[in-house]
Amino acid sequence: MPELIPDFSLQACNTLGLAARAQWLARIDSHASLQAVLADPRVAGLSRRVLGGGSNLVLGGDVPGLVLKNEIGGRRLLREDEAAWYVAAGGGENWHDFVLWTLAQGWGGLENLALIPGTVGAAPVQNIGAYGAEIRDLLSELTAYALDGGEIRRFTQEDCRFGYRDSVFKQEEAGRWLIAEVVFRLPKNHRPNTAYGDIERELAEAGLPRTPQGVAQAVMQVRQRKLPDPAVIGNAGSFFKNPVVPAAVHAALLAQYPALVAYPAGPGAMKLAAGWLIEQCGWKGRRLGPVGMYDKQALVLVNHGGAIGADVTRLMQAVQAAVRERFGVGLEAEPVWW
Ligand code: EPU
Repeated sequence: MPELIPDFSLQACNTLGLAARAQWLARIDSHASLQAVLADPRVAGLSRRVLGGGSNLVLGGDVPGLVLKNEIGGRRLLREDEAAWYVAAGGGENWHDFVLWTLAQGWGGLENLALIPGTVGAAPVQNIGAYGAEIRDLLSELTAYALDGGEIRRFTQEDCRFGYRDSVFKQEEAGRWLIAEVVFRLPKNHRPNTAYGDIERELAEAGLPRTPQGVAQAVMQVRQRKLPDPAVIGNAGSFFKNPVVPAAVHAALLAQYPALVAYPAGPGAMKLAAGWLIEQCGWKGRRLGPVGMYDKQALVLVNHGGAIGADVTRLMQAVQAAVRERFGVGLEAEPVWW
């Protein structure tokens, strides 16, 4: 029988390190434990939220109702055929540990996504991506439990409706599911993707092999250099999405700012590097109260200590206003807000 903990501090459960408390918290490690908690009269009728690694979360204040900490574990080879390995992992597994485990088994595919903080169950919610790879490319299907009664449902890759840092779990189905298990299809003919500039350079400079393990090593080194370790300085990774604009908007900006950094994003669209826009506005390394934009990567909002949700909102709005004023481009926050 899982324990219901009242008035639980969430400060150690979110990588930004924001102070906030949950009215109730329960650790969920199985479908049965979820059913038991949902049936407890103390939380009847209260709102329900799922917490993973808390690495893409802003706690705006104390959280009413019930927080379900996903601790469903397990990882296994489900099956294999001529073309691929099908590997399943519990939603509460640590993402990076899972990636390293697949590589150690000799199954490549997830190496570009090494060292992303958070859990396996949270990964599909925002379709985590880095260095030219996204989880949608390798996810086969997932199993989720309904928060309003425990129904078990299978979502195929198509059902997840993945987009750039987006999925059905951030849209129509937001707040309705606990992702219990994710199945990945890791192709046997996989060739590492080393096209991303930073990775190409790192492989060459460090003399790393162009194998999945070598690429994972390069990715870890690049991330460790550019991105703050949440255990040392509170952050939630990229704080804004890279804005996608019509090609004509990009062309007009480029004429005015020849150094503008952008990438093709489908027909007639360009994705602008938000870090570059923010840096141009003078926010790289700049603080506002206890928070600031990181000095090595302007896209990352960091907590220098003692911040609460309102500090994050204030800085977010200041950066959005600066970028809108200078470039006429709106920045959308990437993390989920409670
Ligand atoms: N740039 C600057 N100044 C900065 C930061 C970036 O000028 O302060 C420019 C540079 O030209 C750089 C380019 O922006 O070459 C791209 O920067 P980077 O390679 O660091 O990637 P990003 O676009 O800032 C995205 C993802 C990251 C992911 C990296 C690598 C988003 C919102 N972020 O960042 O994902 O690790 O690419 O693929 O798409 C996350 O989502 O939490 C995250 C860390």
